[in-house]
Amino acid sequence: MDYADPRIAHVADELKNRLASPDFTGDISRSNELRALYAEIPTLAVEERAAFGRQLNQLKGELEQLAADRPSTEENLSPIDVTAPFDTNTENVRPQVLLASKGSRHPLGVELDRVLDIFYRMGFAVQESRQIDDDYHMFGSLNFPEGHPARDDYDTFMTAETDKHGKPFIAPAHTSTMQNRVLTEYKQNLAAGKPIAVLIPGRAFRNEDLDARHEHTFHQFEGVYVDRGIHVGNLLATFKTFLSEYYQQNIEIKSQPFYFPFTEPSFELALSCPFCQKKGCNICSYTGWIELLGMGMIHPNVLGEAGIDSNEFTGFAWGCGLERLVMMKHGIEDIRYFESAKLDFLRQFS
Ligand code: DAH
Repeated sequence: MDYADPRIAHVADELKNRLASPDFTGDISRSNELRALYAEIPTLAVEERAAFGRQLNQLKGELEQLAADRPSTEENLSPIDVTAPFDTNTENVRPQVLLASKGSRHPLGVELDRVLDIFYRMGFAVQESRQIDDDYHMFGSLNFPEGHPARDDYDTFMTAETDKHGKPFIAPAHTSTMQNRVLTEYKQNLAAGKPIAVLIPGRAFRNEDLDARHEHTFHQFEGVYVDRGIHVGNLLATFKTFLSEYYQQNIEIKSQPFYFPFTEPSFELALSCPFCQKKGCNICSYTGWIELLGMGMIHPNVLGEAGIDSNEFTGFAWGCGLERLVMMKHGIEDIRYFESAKLDFLRQFS
């Protein structure tokens, strides 16, 4: 259709061209150019308005018709080959696969190997934690009675689906979820006159507000040690030895009383800042010390739940955040980098 008014003719060409492009997606009858022409009507001489308005309505109608007649882009697509190793809809784009030679190990994996290596040399066995568990292992077996307020400290993610006891499944908020399994599985060591010594690395999940120090998905490594005559001195000496090995320098530790339902007594442990050797820096907020982890002597109820006689045997346990440890080693200021898949961050550790 031709339009007598040159302003309308110009916009008509422009919009028809746009509609002809297979890439165009919006609603052409709401385009800015068309709106601008409608907005001009009140500014025209009274005798011009009717003819201008009629042509404009014609153009709008024509564009709507053209838009409706356009073949739908979905119909034009060839069927998807679901067996293809890459998305065949990415037309004209060759799949970009990162060459293995350009990849690097994730810094947490590298550092976890270092941690495991130190504990191997101390005689610990290793058992990985799990990423879905139940109420009994996460809470019940760890001396958290039903409805105990300490359960609220764990900001736990739960499924809508329930287990056979009507309890939701849980994405474990700590690697302590493995304690009962490990104690039960290794208790024959005690009968054979050997200690239980197990390290439990794994992912943990918490529904908390995210910031530079808090991430919903993080890693811990739990230590569990049980034998005759084990006391707090053994716990502190073991962990201090580990820290000094890990940071390759003498690390000082400070413990202060804390509360966990599954240990008695319970402690929070702080270490001298390995980044500044206690001189004060932004990693330790200029205090020289960093609070790192929870630990304690395994509660008699937890030992008893696993069938271990707490009159005969005692033990210690800890749960340490891996990210925290690595952040202090490398001066990483934001925990969220680890899960970010930012290559420029990851490549610094390759
Ligand atoms: N599970 C605790 C947490 O994530 C840390 C912890 C404290 C683990 C004391 C332990 C322990 O094994 O004995 O907050």
